[in-house]
Amino acid sequence: DKGNHRHFMLKEIYEQPIVVAQTLKSYVRRLEEQVSLPIPDFDLGTIRRVSIVACGTSFYAGMVAKYWFEQFARVPVDLDVASEFRYRAPVMEEGGLALFISQSGETADTLAALRHARSEGQKIAVVVNVPTSTMAREADLLLPTHAGPEIGVASTKAFTCQLAVLAAFAANLARAKGRLDAKAEKEVVRHLSEAPAAINGALAYDESIEAMASVIAGARDVLYLGRGPDYPLALEGALKLKEISYIHAEGYAAGEMKHGPIALIDENVPVIVIAPSGPLFDKTVSNMQEVQARGGKVVLISDYDGIQAAGENCMATITMPKVHPLIAPIVYAIPVQLLAYHVAVAKGTDVDQPRNLAKSVTVE
Ligand code: F6R
Repeated sequence: DKGNHRHFMLKEIYEQPIVVAQTLKSYVRRLEEQVSLPIPDFDLGTIRRVSIVACGTSFYAGMVAKYWFEQFARVPVDLDVASEFRYRAPVMEEGGLALFISQSGETADTLAALRHARSEGQKIAVVVNVPTSTMAREADLLLPTHAGPEIGVASTKAFTCQLAVLAAFAANLARAKGRLDAKAEKEVVRHLSEAPAAINGALAYDESIEAMASVIAGARDVLYLGRGPDYPLALEGALKLKEISYIHAEGYAAGEMKHGPIALIDENVPVIVIAPSGPLFDKTVSNMQEVQARGGKVVLISDYDGIQAAGENCMATITMPKVHPLIAPIVYAIPVQLLAYHVAVAKGTDVDQPRNLAKSVTVE
């Protein structure tokens, strides 16, 4: 049932404040100001390395997690798309945790990678949305997302719930490694707890995003730029746009532009820049200005301060609530989803059932 919404995708985008809050309940204890795991006695302290494996949008959630795990817990992370993992003969040592991320819990490549990691002696953790799925059954450490059934083929609410779980998991890992004192843990809980309201704040800009969709809908190619933990969002933005609007789109690390892709820039290629205020803002903005200097038309997604500082020569800006950098990837997922959605609607494509795609990919 789509409720009042025209498509399942839009309904699922709008469910995010609720389902992210619901998911976080299993991972943070707000009153105690502590992060927690659904399986509290699982020993994270002995984990020496994490291998993250997933496909598509779930892979991009894993890519954000790599930044978090390394930054907060100082645990080295390998990251692979599942279809590559087994075939590159990955080195898996004792004390390794293999972490699989999947909405459906049935994706064939991810499942095969899970079984391979198990045969190599890894502990198996699974972030999964379907609690009765094969991956859920095969996990040593089951980390459920509580997004509820996701019907739209393009993943939306599952992604932000995955990010919520992974951020909380990063904090749990950091604590187990002695790298998160009680004060820092309190802060993490506070920031995570702010995510649902911030998502709501982001949804409030739906109309202004819709208003610019027709411009993007006329483009043949679109680029997305981001840095640090927001770089995977650039990749996710490009994937969403490709799969539902059939516009060719690519995501790049902002600093990579000058190593090749800037040659693509002209007034016909919109460039969507994801740049929340924070330690990486100035660097991203200087990459954005390199694009503008070559006639590129930029859509800047930032908070009020960021747009005040750098929005002047942009074709358009999208204002997000000001959030702590930890939750920025969760909040900035919303404009990226909404933009793809409205562009697809403007183009008249089948938003919930894009051509050539299936919700669950059960063949390798
Ligand atoms: C993109 C999308 C796909 C899935 C991918 C993995 O919007 O939905 O890229 O993310 O097929 O699926 P799961 O998460 O079920 O393993």
